[in-house]
This record gives sequence, structure tokens and C-alpha cells, in this order.
Amino acid sequence: MPKYPNTISSKLPKVGTTIFTVMSALANEHKAINLSQGFPNFNVNERLVSLINQKMKEGLNQYAPMQGVPKLREVLCEKMEKLYGAKYHPDKEVNITSGGTQAIYSALTAVIREGDEVIVIEPAYDCYVPAIELNGGIPIYVQLKAPNHTIDWNDVKKVVTSKTKVIMINTPHNPMGSVMTAKDMHELEKIVGGTNILIISDEVYEHIIFDGQKHESVCKYPVLAERSFIVYSFGKTYHATGWKMGYCFAPENLMAEFRKVHQFIVFTSNTPIQHALADYIKESDDYNELAEFYQKKRDFFLKQIQGSRFKFIPASGSYFQLLDYSAISKEKDTDYAIRLTKENGVASIPTSVFYHKPVDDKLLRFCFAKTDDLLKKAAEKLCAI
Ligand SMILES: Cc1ncc(COP(=O)(O)O)c(C=O)c1O
Repeated sequence: MPKYPNTISSKLPKVGTTIFTVMSALANEHKAINLSQGFPNFNVNERLVSLINQKMKEGLNQYAPMQGVPKLREVLCEKMEKLYGAKYHPDKEVNITSGGTQAIYSALTAVIREGDEVIVIEPAYDCYVPAIELNGGIPIYVQLKAPNHTIDWNDVKKVVTSKTKVIMINTPHNPMGSVMTAKDMHELEKIVGGTNILIISDEVYEHIIFDGQKHESVCKYPVLAERSFIVYSFGKTYHATGWKMGYCFAPENLMAEFRKVHQFIVFTSNTPIQHALADYIKESDDYNELAEFYQKKRDFFLKQIQGSRFKFIPASGSYFQLLDYSAISKEKDTDYAIRLTKENGVASIPTSVFYHKPVDDKLLRFCFAKTDDLLKKAAEKLCAI
């Protein structure tokens, strides 16, 4: 195509191809085992798949209501009450979205104006900062503290100003696999109580939490709940990341603004999947089995790499395990991740890419949402190093 003279100045000049795309392409090129991108390689529950099929055959293939199918909103409110004791109104306080990513984008767009500051805890999932910047917001960074990747709330307090509009949190955490505790929630309450600061709480891994710990949702804490958009993803809970289906809870006044934005981004999300999920969640609470399911996978993977030169602290949540390669190489994590893919046949994600200015702790992130045979093969390759 002939190039029209370029009059566009990029709104996201620093953004290139995401690391997930780069590492997955490299894994394909070198026929490496791909533990980089976070997606399961096992199937979605057959009953759920057949329900979707059934809904399509029944003709539920046209636009769903903008807020989402009513019976799905109802079962999700029931679930929130059952799990966390939180009461949300199905008509006014929850919205179905096209994935957690779209919920995060819509929430930020609904509340951020030019010059507003948004506190981002780093390392951070990669969709947060571009969404802040596209809305004219200014990300203000606070780093998690090694070795357990916890939040130092004094660091957060220090960066709160009169311009702070939102604090973004993520528990269980991607990429670090850490989880926030009740104490963290109380610290956050102390910071935001009596202010106009809002919270976007990314809880897409709510069910993937290990060693008997309980997920602390902001909805359990009234001072937090009254100011929070809470984001969830069906993709994580039902091994179906490709559906790009999620939802967001918020009090009525915040949800009203969220919806004004949501309707002009996507208007509405996949209809047959919403109907199928409503029936499925009504008849099954198998999300309660996810913690045990993924804990077994984490333990299996870690047992297989015991005796390797990698060091680790077992992940507390999410389906990511960090491995420390400092005993193997002094290379930058981005270089080592590429070499590990090309020469040793295992693709991972270097954690430095989740920071605005790379912090290289010699940690690589491995996704263990994979079948045991694949995890075993990957571990054999890692042990051979
Ligand atoms: C922490 C975190 N938030 C949000 C998302 C996005 O979820 P979805 O795929 O439903 O858009 C992901 C997906 O990997 C994630 O890891």
C-alpha cells in the first residue's frame, strides 16, 4: 500500500508487540514447550461446551442486553454473597464484559481524566498502564517487596497525593504468584478511608489460591467495597481464556458510569456463552475445586524440578511459578528467557518486562496450567541444565 504521509503521533509510543506474543512465536519457531503465555492446554468442561452448543441451537445468537443476560447477573450476585458475604444488586451493580481486560479498560475510562494519578503496584499485568495513559492518566509506581512480593503500604502512602484517583491492586498476583492478606486489606482501608480514592481490584485468579489460604476480595471490606470496581474473568475459572468473557462488580453509582463507557466499547458480550454460564453456575460450584486442582499442578511441577539449579518459593496463588536462575547465569532475564527457549526448549516470561523500568531479579515466570505430561517434559529439560 502506498503510505499516506504520517500525521499520526502515537498515543502509545513505548508500546510494541507484547512479550506474550514474542515468546509464543519464539516457542513455535524453536518447537519449545510453551510455558510462557498464561493459558491452559486442557479442555473446557464438556457439560459447559454442550450447554453453549445447546444455547446456539435454541437460537440465542443475537445481542444480549448491554448489562449482560439477567440470569447470569443473578447467579453471579448469589455467588458473591455465598463466597464473600457481599450483597450486589443484579440489575444495578454487575456487568458482563468481554474479558477482564475490557472490564479494566472500561472502569479506568469511566473515572480517569487528564492528569489524574493512578497508583500501580509493580510488576503489573500489562494492560493496566496503556489503559491509564490512553485516558490521560499518570501511572505512579510502587514496587512489590522481594522475596515474597508483598506490598509495603508505607511506600503506597508516600505516593498518595491530592491527584490520586485510583489505586489498582491484583490478588492473586500475575506475574508474582503472591496474594494479599486480610492485613493488607486493612492497610489499604486506612489509606483510602475518608478520601475520594477509588480502587480497581483485579481478582481474576480468585479461585486459584493455595495452602489453605482464603482469597481476600475487596468486597468483604465495606470501606473498600464502596469505592471498588472488582474484575473477574470466566476465562481463568473455566479454562477458557479464548472466550474473552468476564464481569465487573461495583456499587450502583460507579457501575452507572462504567456502563456509559462499556456500551460504546463493546455494547454487549457473547450471548450463548452467557446463557450457558448462567445454567452451569446454577447447577455446579466446581470453581471450589480449582484451588486443589492447581495446587496439585504447582506441586507436581516443583517436585519435578527439585534438584535442578533453579531456586524457587512456591507460588501462593495464580497459575504462575517463578524460578530464580541466578545460580545458572548472570544474563539479563530477557536474554536468558530467549536462550532458554532456543537452546533448552522451554519458553517462559522474564519478569522485568512487567516493570516500567526493567527490574532484573533473575526471575522467570512459568505457567503451570498444563497437563502433567507437558509439565514433566518441561521439567526434564530444566533439570538437564
Ligand atoms: C492479572 C490479570 N488480569 C486480567 C487478565 C485479563 O483477563 P481476560 O483474559 O479475561 O481479559 C489477565 C489475563 O491473563 C490477568 O492475568
